[in-house]
Amino acid sequence: MTAGSESVSTGRLVLAPARERDAADMVPQSSQLIYVCDMADVADGEGLRIESPDLPEAVAVFHVDGKYFATSDTCSHAEASLSEGFVENCQVECPLHFARFDLGTGKARSLPAMFPVKTYPLSITGGRIFLRLED
Ligand code: FES
Repeated sequence: MTAGSESVSTGRLVLAPARERDAADMVPQSSQLIYVCDMADVADGEGLRIESPDLPEAVAVFHVDGKYFATSDTCSHAEASLSEGFVENCQVECPLHFARFDLGTGKARSLPAMFPVKTYPLSITGGRIFLRLED
């Protein structure tokens, strides 16, 4: 478990605001790099929902064959958590109506979703994953 974080349930990580977290959590942060989780927090082939007041929305971090991706956690079709979806071939399948999204681009690859989900670039340092917020 990450210092300064609170696990609500499996597959979900809720972070305190940066100013309330451990000082060690804050070292690599800048105004654009937001710590989201450790690499070890996301099992291969799984997603992890990240909720943080430092993020513009709930984000899903995915681990696929040693690569990590981040997207909006909410499906573009309706209210479903993509972090709870099935991950295969760098795509996630929504658990509600089974639309598939490309984890790299966020593009909807199958109906009923017609719109992409937002993707976020990640930086990994010392096993820690940071989401880069673009201005
Ligand atoms: S809510 Fe995701 S496909 Fe409908």
